[in-house]
Amino acid sequence: MDIPQQWENLEFRDLKGLIMVIGGPDVGKSTFSRYLWQRLHRNQVPAGFLDGDPGQSRLGPPTTMTLALGRDPYALGPKQESPVGEQGKIWRTFVGSVSPAGHMLQMLVAASKLIAASRNEGVEALIYDTTGLIHKDQGGMVLKQSKIELFAPSVIFAIQRGTELEHILSPFRRSNRFRIIDLKPSLAAQGRSTYERREHRKAQFSKYFHEAHTVVLEWSSLGVFPRPYFTRGGLVALEDIEGFVLALGITLEVYPRDRQVSLLVPRVPLDNLVALRVGAVGLDPEGFEDHRL
Ligand SMILES: Nc1ncnc2c1ncn2[C@@H]1O[C@H](COP(=O)(O)OP(=O)(O)OP(=O)(O)O)[C@@H](O)[C@H]1O
Ligand SMILES: [Mg+2]
Repeated sequence: MDIPQQWENLEFRDLKGLIMVIGGPDVGKSTFSRYLWQRLHRNQVPAGFLDGDPGQSRLGPPTTMTLALGRDPYALGPKQESPVGEQGKIWRTFVGSVSPAGHMLQMLVAASKLIAASRNEGVEALIYDTTGLIHKDQGGMVLKQSKIELFAPSVIFAIQRGTELEHILSPFRRSNRFRIIDLKPSLAAQGRSTYERREHRKAQFSKYFHEAHTVVLEWSSLGVFPRPYFTRGGLVALEDIEGFVLALGITLEVYPRDRQVSLLVPRVPLDNLVALRVGAVGLDPEGFEDHRL
């Protein structure tokens, strides 16, 4: 990892609370977020990590956000599919899409639940790695501004090459509402093509569904959000009483008359299952290519 002098010079002692990392695509948000986690850890600040990007997710399958507490988030390894509360404390929420487009409310709710969980756990510092969606025309401006207003971070790290974040940040700068620390991207930050992003998602899904099995669920006894419209191949989240993800499932068959659905699900305990959440992503259960439904 290239560590720019600017990163080295950061004062880490007073970094507490919610630390949000924002920037356009490929500026190194996730790399910096991990560096931040390691530096805080070295300074004896036990920081949580919120992977808030349901597209290029690192800590869990795409379409989700994951909160990891208590250890190096990127060292989760194959246990990334751990159910809530196990394996060094992981909480996961389902956005139902690999991009915020058309799912902005779900993005806010998913992040909000995880931030609340980390606050409940008394976490001193939480690093929130966000998506690269910053374009005004795609809703990125309002989404980022809304996240900032809603979650009220104690610090915003803004990584930009030029002035591409200023449409989001300038009202906050002028009103002095939040502490913003400006960073330049590392020279080592590299763009990734649409193909590479797709391959990354495929690899994450394939890892997640490795050794999955089929379960048949009766949906009349479960809460189904937003409503029970199951599609073959559609991704569904299996949720506990607090709305955290126990597992993701790929819909294999739908039996409307019996109100049953069969799903391909990783082998995790489902005793706490109370609800299903239907997403807008279809996934091929063999090749793990995703598509919009
Ligand atoms: N400081 C760095 N040292 C070495 N490589 C880096 C550094 N910063 C970024 N990179 C590389 O550049 C690429 C993009 O970095 P990263 O994934 O951190 O960016 P991002 O802003 O999180 O991207 P996305 O928009 O997909 O979320 C990666 O391949 C990463 O390894
Ligand atoms: Mg990233």
